[in-house]
Amino acid sequence: MPSPLPDDDGVEKPGAVEQPIAPTRRTFLAGAGAAALAGLAAACSDDAADPSTTEPDGSLAIEDPSAEDVVRPAAQSEILDGLPDPIVPFRGAHQAGVITAPQAAGIVATFDVVVGSRDELAATLQDLSVEIERIMDARPAVPEEGFRPPVDSGVVEAGAASAGTAITLGVGASLFDGRFGLADRRPSELIPMPTFFNDRLVRPELSHGDLALTISGRSQQSVAYALQQAVRVTDRRLRLRWVQEGYNQLLAPSPERIAPTRNLMGFRDGTSNLDTGDTAVMDEHVWVGSGSGEPAWATGGTYQAVRVIRMLIEFWATAALVRQEQIFGRHRDSGAPLGQTTEGEEPAFATDPSDQGVPPRSHIRRANPRTPDAARILRRGFSYLNGAASDGTLDQGLLFLAYQRSLNQGFLEVQSRLDGEPMEDYVKPVGGGLFFVLPGPGDDPDGWLGASLLAG
Ligand code: HEM
Repeated sequence: MPSPLPDDDGVEKPGAVEQPIAPTRRTFLAGAGAAALAGLAAACSDDAADPSTTEPDGSLAIEDPSAEDVVRPAAQSEILDGLPDPIVPFRGAHQAGVITAPQAAGIVATFDVVVGSRDELAATLQDLSVEIERIMDARPAVPEEGFRPPVDSGVVEAGAASAGTAITLGVGASLFDGRFGLADRRPSELIPMPTFFNDRLVRPELSHGDLALTISGRSQQSVAYALQQAVRVTDRRLRLRWVQEGYNQLLAPSPERIAPTRNLMGFRDGTSNLDTGDTAVMDEHVWVGSGSGEPAWATGGTYQAVRVIRMLIEFWATAALVRQEQIFGRHRDSGAPLGQTTEGEEPAFATDPSDQGVPPRSHIRRANPRTPDAARILRRGFSYLNGAASDGTLDQGLLFLAYQRSLNQGFLEVQSRLDGEPMEDYVKPVGGGLFFVLPGPGDDPDGWLGASLLAG
């Protein structure tokens, strides 16, 4: 009779049998090639010995994905076509893209500013704003007269193809150094991304930036086009620093389903998120308000945390389902908290902190312990695939995006609670940055992104 075993990380594995050879993160990371494959094989056979994942004939049980969860390409296009108003408005007190509904494609690109004066920076952001508004409005690029180069590649047709694109501009802590006389205007909590517990693979060339452009849209082509145009209109004034593309397979809306996507570890993602349709909630947790201790120019903006988090997906695939679920604290297929049946239920520990049904070190319990003052953040992630890593494994992961009106009581608080969580064995952040999303351009047709920051 198998007995529950506490794992080395303290996450109990009910029903798991003793596993004499279990791959550890260290052996997996170090063991490219034969050693890793041996570990993989050993782990697979261990899983096969687990009665909960084995068929009577000894073959591995394969979950029959419920039809409602499988969104095939045709259905995906129906979901996209069914979106209410495909044009995302550029103008307003807040920038678009933060509370816009989850999209099928995304890109984060950061830039370093190459110009040397505040006036030149202002002119650059004005030109960028004009182009961002044109793309979001799905208007055609205006052809240049004479012998000038074409104004765009023409790969995305104006109208339907670029409709739905949302472009969001943020500024990094480095913009507030001595170059532009902005040191006294830095948002009070804006710092370079600190190094966290699990950050030993973070690479400087994939991190930070003076500016960050976050683009989301209905297709990879439309978001790539928007980035090309941003580079085109700011040429020689901004230098691209790093780019991360992402995608989402949007799940068909259904009354039983809350999360809009599944991430590459197989779990529903976005179940317990802030309600972007609730203005009071957005004002409380996302938008910087006046009198919040931030500079006056920042009102209407928000802090953005970006993390490019690589998943060691082959290693994850060797973990028994019961262990995967204990690591997250939710059932993989239904999205329900452990021990419960529907995705929308609050976990038992929310009302009874002594309840151990969801392990105390699980991702959801650490991320949101449901204590009265626990920070809440708005998450807006994308999956990514960057091809093959140098050790022959998949370079895949999560392009994590979070928005909040305070970094200290937002991402930084949540991340510090997550430091040391059991999921860290299977994920490695490789880049990202902290940015402040500028206030919206307002309703004045001459308003531009950065006007309140750079004026005067
Ligand atoms: C590869 C890395 C990550 C993966 C695969 C992941 C996955 C998940 C999943 C599956 C859930 C449960 C479903 C849901 O409520 O959306 C979740 C919840 C959550 N995650 Fe993550 N996550 C990752 C990184 C992070 C990071 C870096 C943070 C913040 C620092 C974070 C914060 C949260 C929060 C706040 C929740 C909601 C908890 C709740 O209210 O129940 N996650 N995540």
